[in-house]
Amino acid sequence: MCGIVGAVAQRDIVEILVEGLRRLEYRGYDSAGVAVMEAHGATQQTKRLGKVAELADALKANPLSGGTGIAHTRWATHGEPSEVNAHPHVSGDIVVVHNGIIENHQVLRNELRAKGYEFISQTDTEVIAHLIAELRKEHDTLVEAVQAARKLLHGAYGTAVMDSREPETLVVARSGAPLVIGYGIGEHFVASDQLALLPVTRRFQFLEEGDVAEVKRTSVRIFDAQDKPVEREITESNVTHDAGDKAGYRHFMLKEIHEQPDSLRATLEGRVTDGRVVAEAFGAGSIDILRQVQAVQIIACGTSYHAGMVARYWFEEIAGIPCQVEIASEFRYRKSVVLPNSLLVTISQSGETADTLAALRLAKELGYTASLTICNAPGSSLVRESDLAYMMRAGVEIGVASTKAFTVQLTGLLLLTMSIAQEQGKDVKSAVQLLNQLPRLVERALSLSDQIEALAEDFAHKHHALFLGRGTQYPIAMEGALKLKEISYIHAEAYAAGELKHGPLALIDEDMPVIVVAPNNDLLEKLKSNMEEVRARGGQLYVFADENAEMESEPGIQVIPMQSVPDLLAPVIYTVPLQLLSYYVALIKGTDVDQPRNLAKSVTVE
Ligand code: G6P
Repeated sequence: MCGIVGAVAQRDIVEILVEGLRRLEYRGYDSAGVAVMEAHGATQQTKRLGKVAELADALKANPLSGGTGIAHTRWATHGEPSEVNAHPHVSGDIVVVHNGIIENHQVLRNELRAKGYEFISQTDTEVIAHLIAELRKEHDTLVEAVQAARKLLHGAYGTAVMDSREPETLVVARSGAPLVIGYGIGEHFVASDQLALLPVTRRFQFLEEGDVAEVKRTSVRIFDAQDKPVEREITESNVTHDAGDKAGYRHFMLKEIHEQPDSLRATLEGRVTDGRVVAEAFGAGSIDILRQVQAVQIIACGTSYHAGMVARYWFEEIAGIPCQVEIASEFRYRKSVVLPNSLLVTISQSGETADTLAALRLAKELGYTASLTICNAPGSSLVRESDLAYMMRAGVEIGVASTKAFTVQLTGLLLLTMSIAQEQGKDVKSAVQLLNQLPRLVERALSLSDQIEALAEDFAHKHHALFLGRGTQYPIAMEGALKLKEISYIHAEAYAAGELKHGPLALIDEDMPVIVVAPNNDLLEKLKSNMEEVRARGGQLYVFADENAEMESEPGIQVIPMQSVPDLLAPVIYTVPLQLLSYYVALIKGTDVDQPRNLAKSVTVE
């Protein structure tokens, strides 16, 4: 997590670094710091506990200036959030910012202590600074010292380093956490996400695993994991989103909820024609692979995992192939059995989630026929390391609580299910034709916004909430509960409604709101019986129900009618009111909606 940004230029780069940090704040936001170097090598730094705005205020009061610099926004792993633990960390001439975890930090710390190095912070980053300072004694240049350090540091991390003996050089190393070099005219930049650099360049070079790069004002040299000089492609970014722009919405999350019709249009564009899925949407060579697939294993984390859980119903029902779904952090640490002709599917908004990436790498050794990622970040590690990729085109998502990425993931998974079915000779024409209704139906669901805002009052003072659904709506209930807990800090749980009597019914009383998602499908009558179980025990029901579900509001039950939708599309549509509900509850509670406490958007540590 944590965000890194750096620059080497002839101009003063402090404002560029701070703007870069603002754009990276989604990655972590408990403290921030910046260090700059003047041409003769004097280093100055400022660090602050809290958000980037605190750092920006401190820099306004006491400005720094310089042409070479590195900056960091932190999400604490080793050591509490504090000014002393904030990056950059310094050891003599060496200045370091770091993202990720050094697993062998304790061993290295002991060795460095024995050599006389003093540690003032609790971070693993300080170990990197001292280690590079020590290795720099035996190496002529900073890049050589960083190459040597990389071999001694175990873990998944990205780092950017300065040395006052080389005042116009930055060295960056990528070992498990993404890093990108931005190309300007007579100046270069580095960052953990291209978003940070969009105000200054659109030309990017993504480092690969094990790469170390020496970045000077007018030159970039990259070395691979074997220390061999390598070329990496420079690409022109087509990311148009301005991360600083809320387009008049109060929060990015609300903006992103309302962007869903457009994101769905974008994801479908050119991918469905005449009742057929264009199977090439999954990349060159996808048709041959999709024809052979006999089983699907889905791996993901968080919201993306919930998308996978919905898709499991689809793969088995529509394509008739077995599908398993697992959380990446579990999959990667257990022995699993690979079914013949299995396709491994990872789902990820960021494409950089450490556990998902590790699971993909493990799966490659296990003998899956192919790997496919459903991903929103072009050029990300998951995209580069998978055989096939479905690029989501949801547009950049800034709010930590994922919204538009989820509904677009669901749509991508529907397309994948249908294209496997189609390539294996099943008739999915009418199902494919339904997809074009999605943007319009989501627009209709968004029009419930005012009604849901009024409802939110009922939740603001509750401490718990229960979400219920059946079939594909069970994972939607899980996603609704996740949204509510993430941004309103209300404890929320989801249950498959049929499980109610096996435990959660004991929790029901007038203080436990129960939210139900009830489209008009085969399971509706069963669901109604479960709702009666809640009512009989004095529970308060809030039901998002199909307008034809024959349910009316009365004491103990509040019904919010939803437009009738094809059951296939219902998971996407019923997600929307749950997103709005959590948003408006959080708004009343006054929490930090876009950057909820303790969370980060991109989880690049284990
Ligand atoms: C974090 C984010 C979630 C996201 C999860 C998985 O927890 O806050 O919104 O669902 O990571 O991330 P991914 O980028 O792999 O979808």
